[in-house]
Amino acid sequence: MARILVLNGPNLGRLGSREPDVYGNQDLAALKVLLEADAPSHDIDLRQTDSEPELMSWLFEAVDSKTPVILNPAAFTHYSYALRDAAAMVTKAGVPLIEVHISNPHSREEFRHNSVISAVATGVIAGFGFDSYRLALSQLTR
Ligand code: DQA
Repeated sequence: MARILVLNGPNLGRLGSREPDVYGNQDLAALKVLLEADAPSHDIDLRQTDSEPELMSWLFEAVDSKTPVILNPAAFTHYSYALRDAAAMVTKAGVPLIEVHISNPHSREEFRHNSVISAVATGVIAGFGFDSYRLALSQLTR
């Protein structure tokens, strides 16, 4: 069964209770159920970490195993050059990596307007709630 890594950065483990006005009231377990229903013939390997090195190690794993990635880098989006370099390794290896955001960062605070990841991502989807992940998945499974 083809695997897809769905990687989530810091604070996303608090989805469901974190700022529901911005992020909704569903948690990552609910997201996994949605994605599995959308792509029953794929193994949805959904993970979350608050740790930058752990998130990077999962991108190295994607490179080595040639596994497509849906990445919500969360706050790392805006400043982590280390994560950007790791994401670049994925796409330079010919493996798709789609950056997703639940909210539309461009409609929020100024510091969220810049992504250091986008330039090395295959594509970016933002602002559609959990549907941002579902749109990314549909692209990877088409
Ligand atoms: C986010 C947007 C980021 O600015 C923020 O730091 C997050 C979540 C989103 O999914 O909308 O943690 O990536």
